[in-house]
Amino acid sequence: MSTPSTEPGTRRRLIVVGSGIAGLYAALLAADAGADVVLLSKGPLCESNTWYAQGGISAVLDEPAPGDTVAAHIADTLQAGAGHCNEEAVRLMCTEARRDIAGLERFGVVFDPGADGGPALGLEAAHSAPRILHAGGDATGAKVAAALIRAALARQADGSVALHTGANATALRQTDGRVNGVEFLQDGRTLTLHGDAVLLATGGAGQLFAQTTNPAVATADGLALAVRSGAAVADLEFFQFHPTCLVPGAGTPDPGTARGLDQDPLLISEAVRGEGAILVDGNGKRFMRAYHPGAELAPRDVVSRSIALHLAKLGDPNGHVYLDARIIEQTKGPGFLARRFPTLTQRTLDAGIDWTRELVPVAPAAHYWMGGVLTDLHARTTVPGLYAAGEVARTGVHGANRLASNSLLEGLVFGRRAVEHFLEGSPAGPSAPALPPRTGNRLASSAAGADVRATTALSGPPEPPHVPFPAALVGEPAASGAPVGSRLASDGRGGGGSAQFSRDALRRMMTAKAGVLRSGELLREAGDTLGRWAAVVRPGTVAPGADACLHEDRNLLLAAQLLVAAAQQRRESLGAHYRSDCPEDASGIREEFDPTYPNRPKVSVLHD
Ligand code: FAD
Ligand code: SIN
Repeated sequence: MSTPSTEPGTRRRLIVVGSGIAGLYAALLAADAGADVVLLSKGPLCESNTWYAQGGISAVLDEPAPGDTVAAHIADTLQAGAGHCNEEAVRLMCTEARRDIAGLERFGVVFDPGADGGPALGLEAAHSAPRILHAGGDATGAKVAAALIRAALARQADGSVALHTGANATALRQTDGRVNGVEFLQDGRTLTLHGDAVLLATGGAGQLFAQTTNPAVATADGLALAVRSGAAVADLEFFQFHPTCLVPGAGTPDPGTARGLDQDPLLISEAVRGEGAILVDGNGKRFMRAYHPGAELAPRDVVSRSIALHLAKLGDPNGHVYLDARIIEQTKGPGFLARRFPTLTQRTLDAGIDWTRELVPVAPAAHYWMGGVLTDLHARTTVPGLYAAGEVARTGVHGANRLASNSLLEGLVFGRRAVEHFLEGSPAGPSAPALPPRTGNRLASSAAGADVRATTALSGPPEPPHVPFPAALVGEPAASGAPVGSRLASDGRGGGGSAQFSRDALRRMMTAKAGVLRSGELLREAGDTLGRWAAVVRPGTVAPGADACLHEDRNLLLAAQLLVAAAQQRRESLGAHYRSDCPEDASGIREEFDPTYPNRPKVSVLHD
């Protein structure tokens, strides 16, 4: 299919890439406003991170809400983000949340009701009040996505949206630096689609790591496409690891055993800890209180890091800890877990664990990328014609560590804002956003004639696509001191070394060297290996041919290079980026085994 550009007088066309919450919601809003909308998704419409979301969507709906305020939501988000958020973006997201929750309900989403007839509100880590709307108990993502997909299919039937599945976007088309189309693979053919603007809603990149909560589609495609077309990116060193991913087959407590997570990963929602579950080690000892006064409900980066540090302290860095949910059943009565968490109850049973009676073996797994394509408050990237929303974007709302259940919300708010801006029809829009107040890294090539730009600063004129990517991004001297061992890939091998490039080798290497615990030395090794692979694979260029896997491999390699270079540049620990050779962070965490993490009191309920 090669569709001509929009004729004068005809509807303006928005091409949306991705069928998660950001893409579907934006496509529906744009279509209902009369735009010509084409949505591409590389798998079936339901295959997205969104589908697997469990805990829910954070939002303060009424003001004043009983026991909660928008100001408290803002404060919690800023605090979890370790002082690295874009405050304006946070304020906007939390303030506009109710509008987009209402938008979701208009498209058919039904949230679980509470006892008072309003929505039931769950509690998750680092939230100072219960404010998580959920659906189907722990099946929020599937319920939300299913409703949006139904609405999109209805609009496809009436001709207001065109949905293309199995359509893998491989490059952005540009004329005079402006994005005006997408190349994609479908049924073994390379096709081109032209439009007035492109909204990237391609989600995250959990497949960068050997152990991840993300489905197979999360391969950093949108980030790579944007970078190749000259877009600025930011905060790539901040990758969030969810603390409680089921370790399949780990069985009963056995602290000496290293297990893999890469078979059918199952996230155990933070909402389970919100209901009272605790974490214990292989000796049955509750350990989180020694690491943070918030214990199991400390910010997510703290809990994941504490698990990793605790396991290292026990001499079992590849081991796992246990989630004790039995306590919930004891305090809230038999049957509570099955009612509140029906999917998890079934999935843990499928894995051979009756969590009403048994401990659940868990370990951290790659979950969410705070960094991404730099966008402004209208979801504009630095490249004209290109918007980005959802996990692929870096709006600044998450800072160095995302607050639980703020991701679905971000996708809604900024997906809508992208559409609003598109509908304004500014002939020049979207255009380059101004430099946000907090800057991250400027990752320029050390090679002469830097070709792929990755910077928080405004990019200059967009780089031409299809430029070679430098083998060496950023040099860094080896760090001194023994690094705390990072979690190894599931087979106990660190990956990398002299191994040839493969996706598997990349994922193992990233887990071993750029995971929860990092150091200058590990990152330098990672950078060297990636540089060696990149010299052969050339991830800065678009893969030739129609093999979608090759495109994804290059995208992952490019994303890994950018992540590691950003992590090398940030020498201090901050939020989810923890360097054992520099454990100080901006919020004052002092020592990896120091049980007296400074008391960061929970934000009390504030009054506007
Ligand atoms: P996604 O939902 O990931 O959608 C991306 C889409 O882009 C997919 O359709 C994909 O196929 C498509 N795509 C990718 N590349 C291409 C390409 N090259 N061409 C065409 N299409 C492409 N967040 C919360 O706020 N609350 C939660 O409770 C929660 N729970 C979670 C539980 C799990 C297990 C996981 C994995 C994540 C969870 N998150 C949660 C995070 C949240 O789900 C995601 O960050 C969010 O859904 C991202 O939405 P998105 O629209 O940006 O991208
Ligand atoms: C969870 O349910 O624990 C995931 C929530 C999130 O990622 O925001």
